[in-house]
Amino acid sequence: MNDVFVTATDEAVTPIRLVRTEALDEFLGSLGDAERRWAERGGFKAKPGQAVWLPDASGAPGRVAVGWDGRDSLSTLGGLPLTLAEGVYQIEGEVTELQLLGWATGAYQFERYRTAERQPARLMLPAAHDGNRLANLAAATTLIRDLINTPAQDMLPSHLAAEADQLAQVQMAECTITEGEALLDRSLFAIHAVGRAATDAPRLIDIRWGDASHPEVVLIGKGVCFDSGGLDLKPASAMRTMKKDMGGAAQVLGLAQLVMAQRLPVRLRVLIPAVENAVAGNAFRPGDVLPTYKGITVEIDNTDAEGRLVLCDAIALAAEESPALIVDFATLTGSARSAVGAEISAMFSNDNAVADAIARAGAAVDDPVWRMPLHRDYNYKLESKVADVVNSASTPYAGAVTAALFLDRFVGEVPWVHFDIMAFNTRYRPGRPEGGEAMAARAVFHYLEQRFGA
Ligand code: BES
Ligand code: MN
Ligand code: ZN
Repeated sequence: MNDVFVTATDEAVTPIRLVRTEALDEFLGSLGDAERRWAERGGFKAKPGQAVWLPDASGAPGRVAVGWDGRDSLSTLGGLPLTLAEGVYQIEGEVTELQLLGWATGAYQFERYRTAERQPARLMLPAAHDGNRLANLAAATTLIRDLINTPAQDMLPSHLAAEADQLAQVQMAECTITEGEALLDRSLFAIHAVGRAATDAPRLIDIRWGDASHPEVVLIGKGVCFDSGGLDLKPASAMRTMKKDMGGAAQVLGLAQLVMAQRLPVRLRVLIPAVENAVAGNAFRPGDVLPTYKGITVEIDNTDAEGRLVLCDAIALAAEESPALIVDFATLTGSARSAVGAEISAMFSNDNAVADAIARAGAAVDDPVWRMPLHRDYNYKLESKVADVVNSASTPYAGAVTAALFLDRFVGEVPWVHFDIMAFNTRYRPGRPEGGEAMAARAVFHYLEQRFGA
């Protein structure tokens, strides 16, 4: 994809000047007469993202001034690639990696089912920046968005497995897929139960990469390719967006691609339980009691609380090897969205140091995460009269917390971070088009680099 950054061109290059909002007067004062009049008639107030053309000495369009709030974020340049005319531009002066990444993420268009009306404007890559790294960061976001935006018809468990397999091949990683009845042979009962009613069989995707001497990090992603709610069927309005219920799987595939491309010295394992939560005669039911990989029995209160079921088998499997860290990503609860909205990732962890560091990393890379309490006193909400635990609490209060507490039972002592994410932009922001989105993945990458990077 990443021809949005160019290193050489025959075309005319238009300079872009970032202007701090509070430095507007100073900027206007520094301009020549014609430039200042164009800026004023253009209504330029140096508001964040606001762009205005300024003339050169001959009166032709010469350069672009862009307002800036002074923050280091995707939004600084993110609105430009699809609003400035096609062509090549160059930032005057300093620019950060995050701002450059914003240009790339703002150039994204989902073109699987129709051709875009225009190409994005391109940017000269400043000499001080690592073009490869930038391309890897951008490619991770593109992959995540493409996977989420692709409708379930073309992103079922089999397609997700093919994507994982291809990614593994490119990076010379190992990819094992356990499919259908074979899940039962491996005691992955919960994954099988949730996915068995679908025509496209449930499966567990397992990617391994890296040097055996490096610390093991396991990334787990909820891969519910479509969530109808199962027999406790969702209402139409809630079902409408459920192609994105594999958003956690998308995060870990994008993040894994980035970790491998950047050759981070970790031993990476990626686990994706990939299922469709469908309705058929053999669907699992409210009241059923499921066995799980760990041996804990689960009474089904609601078949729409399926994400925690597929995750619990993957988490228990991951924990067996006592990795240095397990991180899971999941579009797990509406409750997390009520708590922090669609634009912040809810984070739960059993490790304070790791959680603090990831929260800081997220703030640094414009990928906000907010920690929520893994409040174990609420475990009583998960008590069952017939099994070890229920899959959905008896009261709706703190639904994201009880979902996290359910997962917690399968983790044991391993350091663990759980993200309850939206994985979808419900509105446009510069650098963040509507639709599938990378959420918490960049925060975690930044953290992993800090902790394990050479
Ligand atoms: N995939 C949904 C959660 C979801 C809904 C995420 C909307 C983001 C936006 C999940 O499988 C689900 O249905 N959760 C239920 C759990 C409930 C039945 C305990 C929920 O949150 O309502
Ligand atoms: Mn559900
Ligand atoms: Zn779901």
